[in-house]
Amino acid sequence: MIESLISIAFCVSTALTVLILLLPSQYEPEQAKSPAGSKDSPKPKTAVQILVLGDIGRSPRMQYHALSIAKQGGDVVIIGYKESEPHPEILSHPNISIVPLRPHPAFLQTSNKLLFTIYGPLKVLFQVACLWKCLAYSTKAPKWLLVQNPPSIPTLAIASLVCFLRQSKLVIDWHNFGYSILALKLGQRHPLVKLSAWYERVFCRSASAHFCVTDAMKSVLKQEFDVKASILPLHDRPANHFSPILDPTARTNFLETLPETSTVRSALLQGTLRVLVSSTSWTADEDFSVLIDALVRYSELATTTHNDLPEILAIITGKGPQKEMYMDQIATLEKSGKLQKVTIRTAWLSVHDYARLLASSSLGVSLHTSSSGVDLPMKVVDMFGAGLPVVGWDRFRAWPELVTEGVNGLGFGSSVQLAEHLLELFGDNDKLECLRRGAQKESCRRWDDEWNPIAGTLFELT
Ligand SMILES: *[C@@H]1O[C@H](CO)[C@@H](O)[C@H](O)[C@H]1NC(C)=O
Repeated sequence: MIESLISIAFCVSTALTVLILLLPSQYEPEQAKSPAGSKDSPKPKTAVQILVLGDIGRSPRMQYHALSIAKQGGDVVIIGYKESEPHPEILSHPNISIVPLRPHPAFLQTSNKLLFTIYGPLKVLFQVACLWKCLAYSTKAPKWLLVQNPPSIPTLAIASLVCFLRQSKLVIDWHNFGYSILALKLGQRHPLVKLSAWYERVFCRSASAHFCVTDAMKSVLKQEFDVKASILPLHDRPANHFSPILDPTARTNFLETLPETSTVRSALLQGTLRVLVSSTSWTADEDFSVLIDALVRYSELATTTHNDLPEILAIITGKGPQKEMYMDQIATLEKSGKLQKVTIRTAWLSVHDYARLLASSSLGVSLHTSSSGVDLPMKVVDMFGAGLPVVGWDRFRAWPELVTEGVNGLGFGSSVQLAEHLLELFGDNDKLECLRRGAQKESCRRWDDEWNPIAGTLFELT
């Protein structure tokens, strides 16, 4: 009897010791760690880990956070998937390092709704293990952990637990809501969507501060999520490589170098071509048929009642699942003569050529529809950075935070309305130029101006 009690006690205490030994190390404030007088190298002002459960290279906002923190003297570790090439400045900066997450096995990725409910949890388990290893063991305990949301599962729960164990402070950067994106896939009423909304609400409370992309999102966090910690709206701003090209000749010269303009060169050189640019993810939540229908309507009017309308070249960039389907549709429309005076081309450009294309075009089109109503399309931000006026889908709450109607862009709610805007702006160059001036003014507002006073102050860097 006593012997078995002793052996149980032994097992329990061994298990506890192992558990305690396995606990991740904790964050130690600077004063405690460095004895006075040891000044071999200057200490960083703060240490921030940035976590994104996505491709780092395609997470511009998290990369800008990293650059800003490093620029202000902080030390940054980015944890995320390393698929596409990250920003060159990130790669070359001595105070930014990347800890890559292991990609989950490819077979767990599915678009099948039934399989998704089976594979989804498996994928999450795999991610939990990888995240735990990276956050709790592969890295030093930071003062701050900045997490992108969404995806929220399993990041928010793991991040909350790790921050509790390591005594780091959690900051959530809200780009959107995880559950509203899941609802696009599964429908509003799906139990997983409800569970996910509950999960997001519960775990976000452990954060010591929140950033979000719009004022509208702040009020949702406050009212519906009942967040008590400080919520700091931090609007997206374009990266430095997006800037206007003021000289119209320089714009034409750049367009001339693109293979996509080869069939419309004479109109381009005569100044009777309007270049429209749109970047799409070719997914169900960006209905590309709205733009196609509008262009068909424009073509119809431009060849009948409004003969003086200029020719349009629409350059579409981006990769995605529905691309083939729409390209077939466009080819059919071209054959049946419904796209006269309109040429549609797809392009895949380097980062810098894309920025110059935006700066050289006549008008940008955004088809982004918001799942939550309170997030905003980064692509429009980039267009403004290049001084390009924008027409965009405006049927969501946060749109006016981005575009000032009639000053730097116009909103539409249907393909008919989009066609009307094209008619109005391409039929009257003064109107288009007026919007361009508005967009050029907008391009002066940059990320650092927004970031330094808000995030820099939070991280005690400025
Ligand atoms: C990197 O951080 C150190 C402090 O840890 C600082 O002295 C140095 O200037 C930083 N380097 C850059 C390029 O910002």
